[in-house]
Amino acid sequence: GRKRRKKWSCYPPGPVSLPFVGTMPYVNYNNPILSFEKFRKKFGNVFSLQNCWTNVVVLNGYNTVKEALVNKSEDFADRPYMPIYEHLGYGHKSEGIVLAKYGHVWKELRKFTLITLRNFGMGKKSLEERVTEEAGFLCSAISSEGGRPFDLHLLVNNAVSNVICTITYGERFEYGDETFKKLLTLFENSLNEEIGLLPELLQVVPILLRIPGLPQMIFRCQKEYIDFTEMLIEKHKETWNPAYTRDFTDAFLKEMAKGNEAEVNGFNRTNLSFVTSDLLAAGSQTTSTTLRWAFLFMLLYPEIQSKVHKEIDKVIGRNRPPTMADQANMPYTNAVIHEVQRCGDIIPMGLPHMTYRDTKLQGFFIPKGTTIITNLTSVLKDETVWKKPNEFYPEHFLNENGEFVRPEAFLPFSAGRRACLGEQLAKMELFIFFTTLMQKFTFVIPEDQPRPREDGHFAFINSPHPYQLQAVPR
Ligand code: HEM
Repeated sequence: GRKRRKKWSCYPPGPVSLPFVGTMPYVNYNNPILSFEKFRKKFGNVFSLQNCWTNVVVLNGYNTVKEALVNKSEDFADRPYMPIYEHLGYGHKSEGIVLAKYGHVWKELRKFTLITLRNFGMGKKSLEERVTEEAGFLCSAISSEGGRPFDLHLLVNNAVSNVICTITYGERFEYGDETFKKLLTLFENSLNEEIGLLPELLQVVPILLRIPGLPQMIFRCQKEYIDFTEMLIEKHKETWNPAYTRDFTDAFLKEMAKGNEAEVNGFNRTNLSFVTSDLLAAGSQTTSTTLRWAFLFMLLYPEIQSKVHKEIDKVIGRNRPPTMADQANMPYTNAVIHEVQRCGDIIPMGLPHMTYRDTKLQGFFIPKGTTIITNLTSVLKDETVWKKPNEFYPEHFLNENGEFVRPEAFLPFSAGRRACLGEQLAKMELFIFFTTLMQKFTFVIPEDQPRPREDGHFAFINSPHPYQLQAVPR
């Protein structure tokens, strides 16, 4: 590694590589952002690491991340290959969307997915109606807690997952459904399986994955998760009628039926499972974790909660359900939701990118095939952009006239070609779920409970520590 790096002038600086392991011993893989902050102080906004033989460059601060993702979007649009998913069938032409190599197959799938999501609801209920309906169910479930202290984690998760499950598989799950509870736990456990030193090591020394039974042992939950989605797809095929597209899976099956050319473009059976489980994985935990941050901040800052209540009463009233059209008239609530996303900072390291060709960034040379980590925390909490980077301060998104403004460094969905595909859906869900619940309830810390912690727990996703609340009907 070091010999090769010497050849490149202007390669980003970084800690000295050790034989074999590179810089891996210097990084705390249970909380990489802390390690990154240290390196950033020493080496600057663009620094290099080496995971065994793999070159890694970490990008920090708004200017750097923006130059890469927006100005040099294609240079940074690739993804590193992920051998740790091979035991699930991940590989050539079956890479899903999230982890797919940049190229023809990814482009076709991304386009297809965006169009299919957008079209959903044609003839039937619109996406917004579905979200509104589910928010109504969630309210009823919360009401039936009768104002007693509870943890809304599972309910919120169930509600949010139902939205994406209906779109992809045409199914929703009753709150408390045992199979579904199991699925959610599996998903959270599989995130935990994927962080830490061991998975990082397997990623860069994939030969270890050939140890018989090892991947199955380490990634047990991941496998069960995929098996669950398989079951939903199989159920589908029994009732499939090509004349009538019920959901995303039907639309995908229809593409597959076009034959060989479709296959080459990634529309094959293995990929159906990856694409849909990508949507479920990317679309449920993210949004529901953000909502859990939202209600946590409402507990911690009752004066902000009461301003949201006032705005809801003024613009929507107490009777009719909120709609997306209300958003434009609700700058304060909108600012609060944005500030929740900024502070919650739920994907601190973004998803890994890879350089698609040799490129330059901030004067540094970065060769093709380098793994790129975008430190989104360093953007969402960039001290040169935000007035109070480490405080919950909705005024970050309001101008002096109280109008909504969106600073460019608001990048929780990342940016460029690989930016979150579900941003529109996520925003709709955040607004509808949040305002619907806030219209009906005041959220308070139960008397016998300590003040909830404001820091997060990192397992790829940064989520709040478990907390209890009381939902007092308004
Ligand atoms: C990718 C954030 C909700 C689908 C991403 C990325 C981020 C992100 C940071 C990585 C972008 C990059 O590689 O630079 C979020 C947040 C959400 C959210 C904060 C909610 C608050 C959703 C939803 C869906 C979704 C609801 C489902 C429709 C995806 C997909 C990708 C992605 C498919 C991969 C895109 C690609 O590689 O081309 N998201 N997301 N996300 N997200 Fe989301």
